[in-house]
Amino acid sequence: MDIIKTYQEFAQELERVQSLSELENLRIKYLGRKGLINSFIKEIATLPIEEKKVKGKEVNDLKNKITEELENKKEKLLKESQLKETGKRYDLLLPGRKLWLGYRHPITKVLGEIVEILVAMGFEEKLGPEIETEWHNYEALNFPEDHPARDQIACFYLSDKYLLRSHTSPIQIRVMEKEKPPIRIIAPGRVFRPDPFDASHSPVFYQVEGLYIDENVNFCELKGTLEQFCYRMFGNDVKVRFTPSYFPFTEPSAEIAISCVICESKGCKTCKNTGWLEILGAGMVHPKVLENVGYDSTKYSGFAFGLGVERIAMVKYRIDDIRLFYENDIRFLSQF
Ligand code: DAH
Repeated sequence: MDIIKTYQEFAQELERVQSLSELENLRIKYLGRKGLINSFIKEIATLPIEEKKVKGKEVNDLKNKITEELENKKEKLLKESQLKETGKRYDLLLPGRKLWLGYRHPITKVLGEIVEILVAMGFEEKLGPEIETEWHNYEALNFPEDHPARDQIACFYLSDKYLLRSHTSPIQIRVMEKEKPPIRIIAPGRVFRPDPFDASHSPVFYQVEGLYIDENVNFCELKGTLEQFCYRMFGNDVKVRFTPSYFPFTEPSAEIAISCVICESKGCKTCKNTGWLEILGAGMVHPKVLENVGYDSTKYSGFAFGLGVERIAMVKYRIDDIRLFYENDIRFLSQF
């Protein structure tokens, strides 16, 4: 019974073990029922009492050592085999998973383009509240009470005093109430009307308002500014048409149309066979409006304009149903 030699042999054999089954065989050889350790224990039984004590302890220590080292080796082998297995799951030649990319909403995109063009022309961006007063939404803009023009831009009332703005024109008033001319602003925003939700109407939509007030501003400037805007938005080949119109807060007022970019003015569903697409309302600011905000209407003049963002996006991207913008169908939204 050579304890030291036995341990040395065990250590060498353990070193050579490469698999769990080899390890198990080694365990049986040393710790099994008919293993070396058990044969040592049997031998001890035959020894005189003094020797029994010494050898007994030595054998016990050897058994503990071997048990511990077998356990450690087992853990190591298990870890290695797991690593091998998970390693197999990586195929370096597989194409990577595509990341999900977000897209800008077409309204956000077109609104951004509109604002960029107008800011480059010298207009400053301003915002106003969605909850408005009758004064800002109607009266200051020269809509008398009971005037039929109010029906055109009817609104949702929240109470006797407050309503949801039905156009962005109240921002003109808010800016003029606070600031003195020269004023050169654009005001984008969401507006609300009790309209049906159909192919060409939505109770919520976006507008961009424009306002330019200074001394001696004339209609020529209005025309030049809005023509330039149309060229930059739709390309230099479009024709721009001005026709007389009516808005209570401008005089004279105009409706601005571009030649139909969908059918090249041959006539189609979108231009209702007229060859023209109306995209802007505009006019010289009514003297009454200037006086309502405390400006001297003999000294100052100016022009204003308003456009519908959905309308421009529909023309630009040839979309024939406004509801698509609000249904949040990813198949539609991911196209822009
Ligand atoms: N506020 C008008 C509307 O919602 C649009 C408009 C027309 C705005 C003419 C203007 C303007 O500033 O001059 O129908």
